[in-house]
Parts: sequence; C-alpha cells; structure tokens
Amino acid sequence: MRLDIITIFPRMFDCVFSESMMRIAREKGLIDLRVHDLRSWTGDKHRKVDDIPYGGGYGMVMKPEPFYKAVLVVGESDNLDDIRSRSRIILFTPRGRVLNQGLVEEFAREDRIIMLCGRYEGIDERVHEHIATDEVSIGDFVLSGGEVPAMVLTEAVIRLIPGVLGGEESLAEESFTEGLLEYPHYTRPAEFVGWRVPDVLLSGHHAEIAKWRRKKRLEATLLKRPDLLEKAKLSNQDKKLLEEIKTGVEKEAGFQDPGKLI
Ligand SMILES: C[S@@+](CC[C@H](N)C(=O)[O-])C[C@H]1O[C@@H](n2cnc3c(N)ncnc32)[C@H](O)[C@@H]1O
Repeated sequence: MRLDIITIFPRMFDCVFSESMMRIAREKGLIDLRVHDLRSWTGDKHRKVDDIPYGGGYGMVMKPEPFYKAVLVVGESDNLDDIRSRSRIILFTPRGRVLNQGLVEEFAREDRIIMLCGRYEGIDERVHEHIATDEVSIGDFVLSGGEVPAMVLTEAVIRLIPGVLGGEESLAEESFTEGLLEYPHYTRPAEFVGWRVPDVLLSGHHAEIAKWRRKKRLEATLLKRPDLLEKAKLSNQDKKLLEEIKTGVEKEAGFQDPGKLI
C-alpha cells in the first residue's frame, strides 16, 4: 500500500513514523509511506499556501492551486479523474464522515491513499468538491490541523495490513470487530495488592475461558457502548448470554423489568 500525506508541517511526522509498528511496516516494505511539503507546490518566493477569505471574515483559507499540483505529482498523472478513480484522496475536516473501525477497514483494502491536511480556517471548498474523494473527521472537536488526524488514520490502517502486527489472530477479537468491545486482559501476578485475576483464566479450561471472554465482550458493550449492539452480529448463544448479563446487572441494581437495559 502506498500512502502520501500532504502537509505544511512534514517534520511533525518524523518521530511518529520512525517508531514501533510504523517503522517496522516501512522497513519490511509492507507500506510505502511518504510525507510531502505542500509549500513545494507554491510558485511565489514566500511559498504562500493561504489567502484571505472571499466575502470577508477572520482567518485565512488554504489556496486550491498547491493542493491541485501536489495531487497530480503525487498521483503520477496529469489527469485528476484518473487519480481519483484509483486512489482515495482523503481531506481531513471536522465536517467529514467520522472515522470508525468500519471506515478504517475500508481504507485498508485500498492500494493508494492520499491525505490532505488543512490548517488555518480550512481548505478552499473547491478542493473538497473536486479533488477529495472522502472528507474525514476524527471526532466532534476542532484541532488546529489535519496532521494528527493523518497520523491517527495511518496508524489505524497500517495495523490491519497483513504482516504488520505479526499475530493477526489478535485482530479478530479486538474492540469493534463484530461490533463488540474487547474482553478484559490480565497478566502476572495472579494476585496483586489483593486484586485477583478471575479464577476461570487460571483454570486452563479453554472452552470455559472462551465462553467467559465472549460474555465479557458482550457485557462491556452492553454497559459502555449499548449503541453498538444494535448492529453487532449476535448468535443465539450471544443473545442468551446477554439475557444472563442483563438479569445479573438488573438484580444488582434492583430493577424489576429485564427489558430495561437496551
Ligand atoms: C482549525 S481547523 C479548521 C476548522 C474549521 N474552520 C471549522 O470550523 O470546521 C484547521 C484544520 O484542522 C483539521 N481538523 C480540525 N479538526 C479536525 C477533526 N476533528 N477531524 C479532522 N480534521 C480536523 C482540518 O484539516 C482543518 O482544515
């Protein structure tokens, strides 16, 4: 997979991309990750990427020309439609589609991703309309630039590429796969300042451990993110476990009606 990031602050990526999984993925040749300075595609001696907004108002707006030129060079074609048809061109903006694991999985299946990082008041609307194929937000809050969102998306996508993590089976039960949160983890010692690891995990009984973990995934999702359960893939066994969990929780809370929790 090739990933290109277009930014006015390329050095912000140096540290993040030269450590841990990102470094390994690059060294193994599993990804071709390139960061470009948007100012390389300016034509004036001040290398200006922004200008005042039409219609007045405060703040500066990022100009369309440098992004246009950058995408043509990075996309290796003088035909924008051609680049758009074979790449995802992601523009980071608070008004974009909010990133979630489903969208990350979709991006991880692509061969080419180009990311455009905004600054100031944002990017000229024509870049949103005619250059980007996707507008992505990383949450309902405002950052000062698209660089951190580009790091977030890159890290989330890269860890899904086969060979990057090593133990791919760990992905199967991570949070959000199958629409559920993850089960809790414990490590040694079995008891620490009086806090004990659940007995079932020390039992060596694999079927019981698997059942306990599934129940804990369902419980965490029910209690912390009940909205996810509406779309989760649940087996009949899961539904039975959920009923057990609800009854247990309600008993603890003193509720009468077992349908109340979701
Ligand atoms: C200060 S923000 C601009 C905010 C814009 N004026 C608004 O009110 O929506 C500058 C840049 O940061 C990036 N950015 C800020 N918050 C973001 C978010 N939640 N998700 C993705 N990108 C974000 C975008 O690239 C944006 O162009």
